[in-house]
Amino acid sequence: MTKKKIWELEGKILELKKKRDAVILAHNYQLAEVQDVADYRGDSLELSRIAAKTDAKVIVFCGVHFMAETASILSPDKKVIMPDIVSGCPMANMLSANDLKKLKKEHPKAVSVGYVNTSAEVKAELDYCCTSTNAVAVVNALRDYEEIIFVPDKYLADFVSKRTGRKLISWKGFCPTHIKILPEDIRREKRFHPAAKVMVHPECLSQVVDMADAALSTSQMGKFAKESDAKEFIVGTEVGIIYRLKQDNPDKEFYPASERAVCPNMKRTTQEKILWALEELKEEVRVPDDIRKRAKRAIDRMLEIV
Ligand code: 13P
Ligand code: SF4
Repeated sequence: MTKKKIWELEGKILELKKKRDAVILAHNYQLAEVQDVADYRGDSLELSRIAAKTDAKVIVFCGVHFMAETASILSPDKKVIMPDIVSGCPMANMLSANDLKKLKKEHPKAVSVGYVNTSAEVKAELDYCCTSTNAVAVVNALRDYEEIIFVPDKYLADFVSKRTGRKLISWKGFCPTHIKILPEDIRREKRFHPAAKVMVHPECLSQVVDMADAALSTSQMGKFAKESDAKEFIVGTEVGIIYRLKQDNPDKEFYPASERAVCPNMKRTTQEKILWALEELKEEVRVPDDIRKRAKRAIDRMLEIV
């Protein structure tokens, strides 16, 4: 696309956004062109909290389906639309509500904690929700329970188990993007950039997490980069975050641990699709009221802890 075409498109989005009383939210992994037109960028929980606070009538959610659902759970009075409704999270799709019900039956005394990367139906069956930012704090708060179910990501479960000293009943889920980052990628990048700090997402393979200086959520990475004295960083997460890290820290260098860490679903949203979504006010993400109320309980319990 030519520069002129991009400006035209961005101008149209801006105009229509005002007309529709809409706000555009983009996850940290979105394409640069999407981040450029977003009112806010953030991690999965941050974006839902912004959605709940905004006065705008329409929320254009540029991310994956569970994130838009979470926004809708927290703000049922607003219209939440996704420019590409097919953008899902394969990890979230690895656990159904029936799978969780079965797991709970097998461990009747256990309290259940689920990552925000789950469907609304799964959240409705959970006792507590958590995100990568607060998973350790949530599990630490559950001292009175002997057994804890932690779903769906087995690598996040391993990370939380090591940090809390708690044995967790985990599921077999994983993120197909983060497991592409291998220990040899970290070793290679460290050889190239010996002064760099290594920050990775806790969805990475356990060996990769063990090699890092810090395991952080996407927004925590931004904070870590800003506050650290280091000038160089090896980044073990989806490559889309590099764009924001570079913009926010122009005097620092960021190297992706692996160029293969691309989440195809996060790349489905484009400026053109955002414009269509604003024109048609589609596709709407709405959670049925009975599921929404039960799912919100798990999110509220998490918020009470953190
Ligand atoms: P964050 O909550 O850290 O943004 O992570 C969401 C996600 O899907 C990571 O793959
Ligand atoms: Fe899901 Fe992984 Fe993509 Fe995050 S990066 S949305 S966990 S598939």
